[in-house]
Amino acid sequence: MARKERALLFSKAAAAGALLLLALLLLALAPLALAGERRGAAAPDDPIAANASRMVDEGRQTFRYDTFGDQVFWSRILGIHEALKTVSPRTALTVGLKVDSDALPPGILAHANLDDPAVTAELLRRNAVVGVRGFFNQNGTLRAAGITCALCHSTVDNSVAPGIGKRLDGWANRDLNVGAIVNLAPNLQPVASLLGVDVATVHTDLQSWGPGRFDAELFLDGKAFRPDGKTAATLIPPAFGLAGVDGHTFTGWGSVTYWNAFVANLEMHGQGRFWDPRLNDPVKFPIAARNGFFDVQSEHDFITPKLASLQVYQLAIPAPTPPAGSFDPAAAGRGKTVFTTAGCAKCHVPPLYTEPGWNRHTPEEIGIDSFQADRSPDGHYRTTPLKGLWSHSKGGYYHDGRFATLRDVVDHYDSHFGLHLTEAQKGDLVEFLKSL
Ligand code: HEC
Ligand code: HEC
Repeated sequence: MARKERALLFSKAAAAGALLLLALLLLALAPLALAGERRGAAAPDDPIAANASRMVDEGRQTFRYDTFGDQVFWSRILGIHEALKTVSPRTALTVGLKVDSDALPPGILAHANLDDPAVTAELLRRNAVVGVRGFFNQNGTLRAAGITCALCHSTVDNSVAPGIGKRLDGWANRDLNVGAIVNLAPNLQPVASLLGVDVATVHTDLQSWGPGRFDAELFLDGKAFRPDGKTAATLIPPAFGLAGVDGHTFTGWGSVTYWNAFVANLEMHGQGRFWDPRLNDPVKFPIAARNGFFDVQSEHDFITPKLASLQVYQLAIPAPTPPAGSFDPAAAGRGKTVFTTAGCAKCHVPPLYTEPGWNRHTPEEIGIDSFQADRSPDGHYRTTPLKGLWSHSKGGYYHDGRFATLRDVVDHYDSHFGLHLTEAQKGDLVEFLKSL
């Protein structure tokens, strides 16, 4: 074959190859183009889907980044930003704060000095400290800091280093030592005045919480300790898998949006409007009644306009599925039957794993003391939705972590309900709980 012909043949083959590639590429892109068309068409034809998607985006922003103006309380009043200026990233990680690696340019952490408080300021400037927002002066110094929902209800996947990685919204941060962090604030006198105690007592109360705990009722009733002397703080619960669930919080204070308004106004000390006449009870909630927490009206309302999308976002957060190998599937399969025959499924009704309807019970029904239930308006405990249990084993189970392991929970029910489960049944039940 002449050289010219060979070249021609070769170029023909190349052209055919290129055409084939182009065809394949078009085929591969076609579904994307179609999807794009569908998405584009969604707005006029499907305003509901478009609205849902907009609200999820907006709610995520609020959940992760919104302080509702609470920096006025945390910084102007308590001065916590002054303390943050002296905290190194290493110390911040030690008290359970998490770093969002997606907010940082790749590789930046490899060269960062984690013992330098200036690096903490830089992380804040880049919005990389999960649940903490920094506000800066023009000259670059930290002017104020506030907190967001993500502080307690998010963690990271540790993909870069322990405490540093991608955000996991809705997961309970059981490493976070809220009490130790608040204790850093230079001026706790306003908190002491609120509670009617001295500053030393506030320090002791906050110190008693420990990691993964917070006391949402302390600023209502002033009870820092249970009758047995242990802290009155509860565990931080996850904020995922909540769609379809009626009552929220361990004691069923109300709906998701009720509680969001409560927390944003009364716990984070954001600026908004809150109304709940149940708090105007000087016997049960002396501090709330004295301070008018049942009828809050700030000058600005940064909270109410965010509540709708914040609720939609939270209801959209699925419970995470357990990693492969974290439970024994055969045992879990048998445990599913035990879950039904032992009566667990009567309260923890699959697939919600709480009751459809009024999901509260008296302390006697589940065989525990009434201390925490009595700190709520209805005196009940809410049936915990069990999906994603595996993701918050740290700190234990039940509202106060009184049961260190799932086996301890099962043993409690076994004796309280007189179930007489065999060792094998108990083991299977635990594997089932780990599989949820
Ligand atoms: C300082 C830590 C902290 C912050 C900040 C915080 N929470 Fe919570 N959250 C808790 C604790 C503790 C409880 C349990 C309260 C109880 O049962 O008394 C809770 C309960 C909840 C629940 C109920 C979960 C369930 O199982 O029903 C939801 C929902 C929730 N928080 C959402 C939010 C949202 C949204 C924000 C921001 C507006 C927020 N939280 C801010 C600590 C926090
Ligand atoms: C009468 C209703 C009822 C029955 C029956 C019941 N539970 Fe519960 N369960 C509850 C309530 C209420 C709580 C919340 C207790 C608390 O937080 O103090 C709870 C909490 C739990 C928790 C802890 C969840 C967490 O995140 O801390 C587990 C696990 C659990 N139940 C498993 C079971 C199993 C297994 C059975 C059957 C042996 C069972 N439950 C039977 C009402 C019930």
